[in-house]
Amino acid sequence: MKKIVILISGRGSNLRAILQAQRLKAWQADIVQVITNRPQAVGIEVANEFGIPVTILDHQSFISRQEFDAELLKKTQAFNPDLVILAGFMRILSADFVNFFNGRLMNVHPSLLPSFPGLKTHSAAIAMGVKWHGATVHFVTHAMDVGPIIAQGVVPVLPEDTEETLSQRVLEIEHIIYPQALEWFIRDQLHLDQGNVRVVPAQQQFFQLPITP
Ligand code: GRF
Repeated sequence: MKKIVILISGRGSNLRAILQAQRLKAWQADIVQVITNRPQAVGIEVANEFGIPVTILDHQSFISRQEFDAELLKKTQAFNPDLVILAGFMRILSADFVNFFNGRLMNVHPSLLPSFPGLKTHSAAIAMGVKWHGATVHFVTHAMDVGPIIAQGVVPVLPEDTEETLSQRVLEIEHIIYPQALEWFIRDQLHLDQGNVRVVPAQQQFFQLPITP
């Protein structure tokens, strides 16, 4: 049984998608803990609904970033996870954290990396006039929003889109690709080949939502 810890900061829609997939597919995995840096995170209710214990580590109650980082690493290590999943975790992880969980740390980013790293990806995509946007699941390395890409999903950008409508559409594809990437990991199907992630036996690593006219 692989042990998984999920880190969240907010609404927890990816957390829900992962927990639903786990229920549906009976993965050989145990989601042992959700850790959040925000005591008010809506995702805490999602974890409760699925009976997953939650650790709250309010970053504001620490006197320094270093102290919070050290505690986050200690708390996460204590669960001895095979995989740590970032699902809308809005803190930059320390180098120690990234090193310790190297190859066992996954993130979903709401853009087609390497386009639009960082925040506000949907408004940036609209401002650039791109016609495709999407989401990326990747292993986390030291640089932000860089790291071996596991899966990507595209969605169209429609002329009338706002940040809200586009982000909703991107979320739909996130909820497909993140559980899928996780399932590959659980089944030991992810292989790193010179910095590129391959699924073995081979499977499509790109996804698309139906295009609405
Ligand atoms: C998602 O858009 C994800 O791509 C980004 O943060 C957001 C989290 O949403 N990293 P949720 O908390 O999973 O609903």
